[in-house]
Amino acid sequence: MENTILVTGGAGFIGSNFILQRMERESDSVVNLDKLTYAGHLRNLEAIANDRRHEFVHGDIADRGLVRGLLERRRPQAIVHFAAESHVDRSIRGPDDFIRTNVDGTFALLEEVRTYWGGLTEQERADFRFLHVSTDEVFGSLDPEDPAFSETTPYAPNSPYAASKAASDHFVRAYHHTYGLPVLTTNCSNNYGRFQFPEKLIPLVILNARAGKPLPVYGDGQNVRDWLYVEDHCEAIATVLTRGRVGQTYNIGGWNEKRNIDIVEIICDIVDEMAGRRGSSRRGLITFVKDRPGHDRRYAMDANKIERELGWRPLETFESGIRKTVRWYLENEEWVRDVTSGSYRQWIETHYSS
Ligand code: NAD
Ligand code: TYD
Repeated sequence: MENTILVTGGAGFIGSNFILQRMERESDSVVNLDKLTYAGHLRNLEAIANDRRHEFVHGDIADRGLVRGLLERRRPQAIVHFAAESHVDRSIRGPDDFIRTNVDGTFALLEEVRTYWGGLTEQERADFRFLHVSTDEVFGSLDPEDPAFSETTPYAPNSPYAASKAASDHFVRAYHHTYGLPVLTTNCSNNYGRFQFPEKLIPLVILNARAGKPLPVYGDGQNVRDWLYVEDHCEAIATVLTRGRVGQTYNIGGWNEKRNIDIVEIICDIVDEMAGRRGSSRRGLITFVKDRPGHDRRYAMDANKIERELGWRPLETFESGIRKTVRWYLENEEWVRDVTSGSYRQWIETHYSS
């Protein structure tokens, strides 16, 4: 095995943040396999464009021949699997791609990794890791007084996205139980930070607020999510990769539950402060729109296990993380222009037209 990790989906939001953080801190090489869907942008990796430790491979995790060749050629000691369709609203409008990538793609990847792993020496097999990046959404929805999701909470996915991620989690688990593949699974809460595609709540609201456009809040705005700064998530993944117990799952969260309406108001106030007010407060742009079908009411993560066993805790507070994030979107207009051309506009028009 080489001193190399294979990252899937490394041109997306969390994957690109992970690669940038990793290459700053570690000496190993990174092979990045990404299909470059609407959500993948090589621009995110501009800072390492000339770093020879990073190899970008344009391709699909479901392409077994490609994955096989890549594993044989680069002989990675670990896989960090981010690649997925990740937007709940898109999964409601058309679940096919979610099954294709999240379920079939993960299965194809596992099969090829199983063969590759089976051909390693005993020591290499013991050292190998397959880390599967998943979500809190597999656990379903909480009532206001319910305790937060723990690693033993039964799965109850409610959206096609959540169901596809749950299915992939089950396959990863089964490959450990049945074949002994050294897997780790992380289930994380909602992330925010630089490079998040502006179909998701926080970047969408920042960009619309800056442009003076309506800020769409689904339903009554009382849905609760637990928000974690993306760099904290990346550190948690790196921690689980090096110190996590094989076969275990780890919940990752920010201890930061917030109602959507509060998030939107906070962003309005920060954009007012940083970009200057145009007369009245941007809170006036808040527009309640038709609710998402089957909209989960509340997610909350109990991240005690990763703290107790591995010593990880989030470093960023929401107050500091959201300010950094707003500033980044305001200062990176070229990135915004790049990613919001073409298919993005089409999505916004279709999804918000009613
Ligand atoms: P994203 O949509 O920003 O990026 C996904 C990346 O995967 C893109 O670069 C895309 O091109 C690539 N991709 C999609 N299909 C592919 C395929 N078939 N083969 C190869 N590459 C493919 O997603 P994200 O927000 O960065 O999420 C990354 C992972 O983290 C996902 O597995 C997601 O379920 C999980 N997660 C996300 C969050 C969150 O808040 N964003 C929270 C918890 C877990
Ligand atoms: P999102 O960023 O899509 O993440 P997820 O659905 O995976 O939690 O949405 C976060 C919350 O914000 C969710 O409760 C839905 C809500 N939301 C809006 O109210 N308006 C919007 O335009 C979007 C995209 C999301």
